[in-house]
Amino acid sequence: DNGGGNQVSALGFTAVAKSLADAVVVPAGYTATPILRLGDPMNAATAAYGNLGAETGDSFEHRLGDHHDGMFWFGVNAAGTAWDANASARGLLAMNHENITQLFLHANGPTTVEGVRTVADECIKEMNAHGVSINELVRSGGGYAHVPTSGFNRRVTSLTPVDLAGPVAQSALVVTKYSTTGAATRGTINNCANGNTPWGTYLTCEENWAGYFKRAATDDASRSAAEVTALKRVGINAGNSGNYRWTTVVTEDAADTRFARWNASVTGETAADDFRNAPNTFGWVVEIDPFAPAAAPRKRTALGRFGHEGAWLGPVTVGKPLVWYMGDDARNEYIYKFVSKANWDAADIGKGYAAGDKYMNDGTLYVAKFNADGSGQWIELSFGKNGITAAAANYPFASQADVLVNARLAADVVGATKMDRPEWTAVNPVNGEVYVTLTNSNAGNRTLASVDAANPRHYNDRKTTGGDQWGNPNGHILRWKEAGGDAAATTFTWDIYAFGARSTADAATINLSNLTADNDFSSPDGLWFSRANPGLLWIETDDGAYTDVTNCMLLAAVPGKVGDGASKSVTSTDSTGATKTVTTYVGKAPGTLLRRFLVGPKQCEITGLAETPDGETLFVNIQHPGEDTASVADPAAFGSHWPEGGTARPRSATLVIRKTGGGKVGV
Ligand code: FEO
Ligand code: CA
Ligand code: CA
Ligand code: CA
Repeated sequence: DNGGGNQVSALGFTAVAKSLADAVVVPAGYTATPILRLGDPMNAATAAYGNLGAETGDSFEHRLGDHHDGMFWFGVNAAGTAWDANASARGLLAMNHENITQLFLHANGPTTVEGVRTVADECIKEMNAHGVSINELVRSGGGYAHVPTSGFNRRVTSLTPVDLAGPVAQSALVVTKYSTTGAATRGTINNCANGNTPWGTYLTCEENWAGYFKRAATDDASRSAAEVTALKRVGINAGNSGNYRWTTVVTEDAADTRFARWNASVTGETAADDFRNAPNTFGWVVEIDPFAPAAAPRKRTALGRFGHEGAWLGPVTVGKPLVWYMGDDARNEYIYKFVSKANWDAADIGKGYAAGDKYMNDGTLYVAKFNADGSGQWIELSFGKNGITAAAANYPFASQADVLVNARLAADVVGATKMDRPEWTAVNPVNGEVYVTLTNSNAGNRTLASVDAANPRHYNDRKTTGGDQWGNPNGHILRWKEAGGDAAATTFTWDIYAFGARSTADAATINLSNLTADNDFSSPDGLWFSRANPGLLWIETDDGAYTDVTNCMLLAAVPGKVGDGASKSVTSTDSTGATKTVTTYVGKAPGTLLRRFLVGPKQCEITGLAETPDGETLFVNIQHPGEDTASVADPAAFGSHWPEGGTARPRSATLVIRKTGGGKVGV
């Protein structure tokens, strides 16, 4: 399915320059209009957002959340009842709200007394500002207008009831006070990138969920050795206080577990408040049917539990399994794919969660190994196979549910390749090749000794204004081609499409893709192939390395294919002067087929991409402008005032990007 468009062979805009301005910069002939800003009301009964922190926590059940991230456009049919993959004039924009800039949500920042959160409603507001929003939009004037009366407008927050589905559901691993049968949990959190299904539902992916859980300093003593291993592998260490300290809120009502549920401690907790397994109910791919606004979302546990960045659908073929590609975004983590047991039947379009139960509850989870010779393997993560047994040296696996909950530990057993932070995956509709952003790593994690063919650089990216940055601070974009063009294959070949770098960096060791002033970038993150313009790739950055020179950006590319470049010997040097040389596989230099399209305001990340099927509108998110602001006391010292300008607090928002006078974006 290439969306019916013609294959793209060239880019149709002039590259924009790098920028440090507190503004969105797009090429001549384009407009970028912010809509769906943090706090904007989603129904007619909710007041406009004052942006001074006065709104209640409950009001955020009907307001746009914070930290806009992954998105997907679901066109609505003429009857206004169901998905129409070709509809551009009217649609539901599903969007993740990954995190919060806590400071700007409250009148004077969070209220805390000696480490205790004393205003419960502030914590409820923070929980409700996370999650997902679904908003109906219609074509209007030069862009799109929100439909406040739409029955499809919906918030899913970290308090919304959610069902667990697949092999882990109703196992002892997910029994909590909230669901003593392990059939459900409450909410979704740290929803980063996303995906979709061929039957018309949204996938939202839980990334840095582990940080929200508290564990008492003495908790290890109350746990089995296996439990401690499992908790440590995801970073929920004894002594963690939990993001934003929600557990410190004291409530009089024993039935109100909205705060205690983030406390995973056994020690010191009463049985009545037992949420020791609550962390096992997060870290999943979550399915949301945007056309069933009253139904509970379903966490699809067969796809494994880790720091899910996104879940991108492979080529869809009737009679073949469905495949989703998934990155685990942490340093030295892995790349996974899920292959459904059921073969795709187009009659399942529109069947919602029932179709999800058919394709996503039963299948095989694999992890990737990248070999030095440019080949690769998908290694099955199934209980009883490949050493994943009760006798494994690192962890005594007990069942497939245990393997899925502890997917990272299973991947450790099989010798998968540790990558430089796998972020988004994307699939080229022209040839089915899969791209993944490896956003960056540091010297402690991508050591000189651990440099390998797929993560081949350890170097110093020296900031213009001083400051050494050792490791792989600029990241790279890797791609692979499945054997025989079959997404379900267990072998592949790979190369590296592009290496992030300053255009001024040494071409032999750092700027291996010969980036120029028109396309140099650092820390690639969001990655998305256009459907309306097959072959057109959008790349977004979430960077802290090159920010001495430019704010984060969006680039457009027409990439070639795996193997269009050459093998190359790359020598890395560490801060002691030691060297190591590896052979890697570098794609053909992108040249003018990679161009900077947009630069964002100060202290933002550019993330999330959606497109109307006509290709004439691109939605792009500006996440957390001004995130480094230290205090609300002095507006003149805010890190950004975008989008309102003046002395306003900054707000995450969605850009509607269109060509003046119409036409397809980017070409
Ligand atoms: Fe939420 Fe990996 O970015
Ligand atoms: Ca990301
Ligand atoms: Ca990132
Ligand atoms: Ca971010």
